[in-house]
Amino acid sequence: MASNANRRKFLHAAGLGVAAAAMQSSVSAAPAESASAAKRVKIIAVSGSPRKGKTTAAALTTALEAAKAVDPERIETELIELADLKLNGNMAAGVPLEPGQQDDFPELATKLAAKDVGGIIVGSPVYFGSMTSLCKAFLDRCISLRMRQFALANKVGGALAVGAVRNGGQELTLQGIQAALMCQEMVVVGDGRPTCHTGATVWNSGKDDVSQDEFGMSTVKNLGRRVAEVALRMAAGK
Ligand SMILES: Cc1cc2nc3c(=O)[nH]c(=O)nc-3n(C[C@H](O)[C@H](O)[C@H](O)COP(=O)(O)O)c2cc1C
Repeated sequence: MASNANRRKFLHAAGLGVAAAAMQSSVSAAPAESASAAKRVKIIAVSGSPRKGKTTAAALTTALEAAKAVDPERIETELIELADLKLNGNMAAGVPLEPGQQDDFPELATKLAAKDVGGIIVGSPVYFGSMTSLCKAFLDRCISLRMRQFALANKVGGALAVGAVRNGGQELTLQGIQAALMCQEMVVVGDGRPTCHTGATVWNSGKDDVSQDEFGMSTVKNLGRRVAEVALRMAAGK
């Protein structure tokens, strides 16, 4: 009993309690989307690989190119590599930093929550059938955005996973990422037609090269395009 009560207390404090969520009045507090059809929309890709510039970053770059191609005048893109940042996942649960430790999350959070950001694509290498600890730390830290009146609500979310095996857990990894995005009240989409499944599933042939994975790279392009298309529709109030 006592431990249940403590757990409830913790969940409430962490912004996960039902009552706390209801009090957030999420729908009315979501960023208001202007009906302007000419509005510029930014799509950000976040790479959860600890290896900068490798296969996840390469696949996400292709996804962003496909997003940009939807409407080069209106779509802006940016790739953020978590490998460049200091992120402490434990802070999501309120554990303070050690003296002298750096934390780059606040700046990243401000960037992601900006009104002009219409879509966020989160990519991760598959590590033992799941996302990397770096990607999870990032998604866990986003609890502060949920607590800030669901600052990511109604932004379009997409997921991308790269594994060294063709079926090495990419779809499980996508599900983990998507679950976290849904907890932010984001609008999660998959890769669009013609592949049209749950996101981008990429195979690293073993030489840190994803370009030879014809099917996987088509899911990447279809994901980028789909995120951009839906983000533009959302921005236009459709
Ligand atoms: C600890 C670890 C676990 C891994 N587990 C898997 C796995 O379960 N399935 C898979 O397909 N690839 C696995 N891989 C391979 C990586 O997903 C693959 O090399 C990926 O392309 C790395 O992404 P990056 O180039 O962006 O770092 C693993 C790699 C590491 C380091």
